[in-house]
Amino acid sequence: RPLKLVTLLGSLRKGSYNAAVARALPALAPDGVEVLALPSIRDLPLYDADVQAEGFPPAVIALADQIRAADGVLIVTPEYNYSLPGVLKNAIDWLSRVPEQPLAGKPVAIQTASMGVIGGARCQYHLRQVLVFLDCQVLNKPEVMIGAVQNKVDAQSGELTDEDTRKFLAGQLTSFAAFIRRVS
Ligand code: FNR
Repeated sequence: RPLKLVTLLGSLRKGSYNAAVARALPALAPDGVEVLALPSIRDLPLYDADVQAEGFPPAVIALADQIRAADGVLIVTPEYNYSLPGVLKNAIDWLSRVPEQPLAGKPVAIQTASMGVIGGARCQYHLRQVLVFLDCQVLNKPEVMIGAVQNKVDAQSGELTDEDTRKFLAGQLTSFAAFIRRVS
């Protein structure tokens, strides 16, 4: 059976560089690994326990179901103010309340892309802290932090064309697949 990975994107922006990274992944996955995009987190309401008490919103249930059915989750996100974007935290907060937590025990790999030189490194360590509470199994290495991403995405096509970055991503996918087979 092929391993099924899903991408959770932390940017809502149409021209998102992180979206370009996520779009590149299916073609970079090793044999026996498929990568599919999760629905956008745009449609999730702001977390509110009163809303939850009336029933989980359909967008939350859909996201939870697809994560539960996946062998691993790739979180691809920008860094906002040295941390994870609020929209991504909101999605994680919703998912953490769904019964039989879809993220508990789930293998997770992180990728950040930013226009700065550090490539979102500070976001990664905040995100890792959150994922500890959710009891995810987070891949340690290789860490994918893509700096100066605006120079690695083709301005015309909007696709991630930088060859070294693509090789690096392919390497993480191979490591992640081996990690999943080891821990699952
Ligand atoms: C940013 N950006 C940013 N970059 C970074 O490297 N470290 C940071 O702490 C921040 N903080 C930050 C906060 C907010 C509110 C915004 C809007 C932006 C810049 C960010 O890396 C850049 O906008 C990316 O292009 C965002 O990713 P997407 O949307 O292109 O995927």
